[in-house]
Amino acid sequence: MTDSYTAKQHYQQHDVAGDYDRERFSGLRGWFVNRLEQGLLMKTMEGVSQGGRVLDLPVGTGRMSRRLDAEGYRAVGTDVSEPMLRISANLAGGRANLARGDGERLPYRDGAFAAAICFRLLVHLPAPARKNVLREMARVATERVVAVYQPHRIALWWLLYGLLLRRKLPLHFVSDDDIREELADCGLRLVRSHTLLRGVFMERAYVLEPSSGT
Ligand SMILES: C[S@@+](CC[C@H](N)C(=O)[O-])C[C@H]1O[C@@H](n2cnc3c(N)ncnc32)[C@H](O)[C@@H]1O
Repeated sequence: MTDSYTAKQHYQQHDVAGDYDRERFSGLRGWFVNRLEQGLLMKTMEGVSQGGRVLDLPVGTGRMSRRLDAEGYRAVGTDVSEPMLRISANLAGGRANLARGDGERLPYRDGAFAAAICFRLLVHLPAPARKNVLREMARVATERVVAVYQPHRIALWWLLYGLLLRRKLPLHFVSDDDIREELADCGLRLVRSHTLLRGVFMERAYVLEPSSGT
């Protein structure tokens, strides 16, 4: 397991967890981004039968898990941060299925889920940790893995993007080609991909099939 990246410790601070939703998803812009990301989630889930167990890694404050449950899936949220899990449990009125765990070594048996989704984590991780997480998702999901990255094309565009939209630049730049290679390396077959909002928000969701699912 890797400990050399900030996101693993950062969100374990109570104040950081407490500010998470307000800092990202409040106001018109936050509402819009959250709505877009949830729309993206539902596009990536097309083809996965409702009722299936879906691993939400990392669950954070639970916005994706609550949406999955509302759509008829059975979400299981996992996160390394106790404070984030507590907020997630509160926001779900105690009805959420949550467990503390590290994405690099998931506390689940092989094939325990129909699908596994990963939003807003891979961009924080250095390549070795990303691969550990992807391999773990490929191991526990039978039908579908969803991995969201911010593929980098032109550094200048990223600079403008950061300045104009006041968005943080990714810590680890990876191109679409590198991502495809990385996914294949981790036993994941690319089925399709969707952008969050072409030309504006760079996030891209890769919809994948674990090799064990064929
Ligand atoms: C930016 S938040 C994303 C939360 C959620 N997926 C969302 O989209 O709102 C990143 C989360 O990743 C969690 N995290 C960081 N490293 C992790 C790891 N190795 N295993 C599990 N969770 C991790 C943090 O605790 C934090 O809750």
